[in-house]
Amino acid sequence: MRLTVIGVGYLGLTHAACMADLGHDVLAIDTDHERLARISGGEMPFFEPRLESLLRKGLETGRLRFTTSKEEIGEFGDVHFLCVGTPQGADGAADLSHVTHAADALAPHLRRGCLIAGKSTVPAGTARKLLARIRAAAPAGAEVDLAWNPEFLREGNAVQDTLRPDRFVFGITSPRAEALLRRVYEQPLAAGIPALTMGLETAELVKVSANAFLATKISFINAVADACEAAGADVTQLAAALAHDERIGGRAMSPGLGFGGGCLPKDIRAFRAAAASLGADSMVSLLGDVDEINKSRRSRVVDMARDAVGGSLAGKRVAVLGLAFKPNSD
Ligand SMILES: NC(=O)c1ccc[n+]([C@@H]2O[C@H](COP(=O)([O-])OP(=O)(O)OC[C@H]3O[C@@H](n4cnc5c(N)ncnc54)[C@H](O)[C@@H]3O)[C@@H](O)[C@H]2O)c1
Repeated sequence: MRLTVIGVGYLGLTHAACMADLGHDVLAIDTDHERLARISGGEMPFFEPRLESLLRKGLETGRLRFTTSKEEIGEFGDVHFLCVGTPQGADGAADLSHVTHAADALAPHLRRGCLIAGKSTVPAGTARKLLARIRAAAPAGAEVDLAWNPEFLREGNAVQDTLRPDRFVFGITSPRAEALLRRVYEQPLAAGIPALTMGLETAELVKVSANAFLATKISFINAVADACEAAGADVTQLAAALAHDERIGGRAMSPGLGFGGGCLPKDIRAFRAAAASLGADSMVSLLGDVDEINKSRRSRVVDMARDAVGGSLAGKRVAVLGLAFKPNSD
């Protein structure tokens, strides 16, 4: 199939290279032309295991190409994957300006039936508004379909997570959209990866709920760590014992500094802001607590270090073991 990828950041570049590896013809675009030029020369903008060789392979076979022309993108794609950033905006809500700019730039060049598949993490309701906006501006009008196909990749394991995810989530409004996504992912689906089909809003919410749950698990075990410390208990032994209960599990249950990175903090704040506007008050208070517990971990670690050296860190030499966001990341 002829696929396009709009936005070649962490998600988009991984997606583009993996789709080319599956045998599709992929054309990708980004507003950052310097980044595009470097990637077109085979240079990785970040470290991710296996991705550089997939990028080089895609470039060599000609299955993966990059352009700065929106016209070319509009004309080329049977399916357009929207992979632009959704950073944290004022008041914590997701800043959707990159998504709307990308959609507005693409729509006038959609002259034939195609599918836009959103992969960025967005609040519920975004996709439906985007569909109306794109159809109004696209010469192909109602021949343009839109699906939300959220991405669950983990940095450090991004290639494997893209080619063999735990599941695909297809938020759709038509059988045609589902059929096209099934063709895109034919190989992993044939290998037994499940695809769950649902409405647009549910698909959007699956992604933010998954991140909210992971964040909650991490803040939970860190809150338990505080209780352990006060009681003279060992939280590591406790977590190992909890992990044997299948209902709880051991993943994302390591006490420590808390969560960071480019996704969990911004995504729980965006979900919290969206929940507030939906009137989903229990989610607002739950995620507020999760965020506060997480933020307090950092000052807690500094306090512990201070206590360990007798009250003041001033003038002390501090060694930090491990600076990466997580294993296999840069
Ligand atoms: N990085 C991850 O691990 C991960 C995992 C799952 C989901 N996500 C979600 O995927 C989305 C993208 O995340 P990311 O980490 O790849 O972000 P990123 O900042 O690394 O990349 C975004 C890219 O989009 C480009 N861009 C912005 N506006 C554009 C436009 N109008 N047209 C074309 N390109 C444009 C930027 O130049 C940039 O290269 C976010 O919604 C994020 O929450 C990220």
